[in-house]
Amino acid sequence: MPSTGDLKREAAEAALGYVKPGMVLGLGTGSTARLFLEGVARLVAGGMDLKGVPTSLATAGAAKDLGVPLTSFEERASVDLAVDGADEVDPKLDLIKGLGGALFREKIVAAAAQQFVVIVDESKLVPRLGVRAPVPVEVHPFGWRFAAKSLESLGATVDLRRASGEAFRTDNGNHILDARFPSLASAERLAGQIAAIPGVVGHGLFLKMAGTVLVGTGKGVRTLRRPGKPTRRS
Ligand code: 5RP
Repeated sequence: MPSTGDLKREAAEAALGYVKPGMVLGLGTGSTARLFLEGVARLVAGGMDLKGVPTSLATAGAAKDLGVPLTSFEERASVDLAVDGADEVDPKLDLIKGLGGALFREKIVAAAAQQFVVIVDESKLVPRLGVRAPVPVEVHPFGWRFAAKSLESLGATVDLRRASGEAFRTDNGNHILDARFPSLASAERLAGQIAAIPGVVGHGLFLKMAGTVLVGTGKGVRTLRRPGKPTRRS
């Protein structure tokens, strides 16, 4: 019986098939993205010319440790391929991301990518967003209580994310509110409502962004594709 880690690795290894020499890669955050990064490090060690744009300080540190060259996103407006994990994937390939706290940079890099490939184990597939994961909402510390109240007025139960007893701080110095909605009927409408709350810096609803989702199943990788999104693969 393969472990969740095995399924994540399966998906991460499959994503290496999308990597071509000379690419600038958006490097995601989390345990599955880390397995992809290890594969990228192998390609670099084998002589492939690749550069990464990390989506978090943790990924930047791991890339340095593994010998993957980085380039600053401040010097470019796009990347060739972004590969990242997700917390939930629905049948339309819409996602919830951000349980790892890196949603703000992850969304920018995914949006800037020519191709955005998501790598998950099969436990992340859900019939509807929000059935298991909360929607992480990154808020400026100044307005977090107001943002929490505003999310509650949209029907959410809200928790200020904590780490070691303290309010969690993102790489951007912000807090995260984990918002659970009893029924997330229209993710698109909700995304607009959340984004309109003053003090909200970003949220973990990644809608119409993923072109390809690679799912580790233990019986081979399932490839899910969104119609109309680029899915170039070698
Ligand atoms: C971090 C994320 C991660 O991609 C997401 O939490 C999945 O993590 P993992 O691969 O460890 O299950 O969005 O902000």
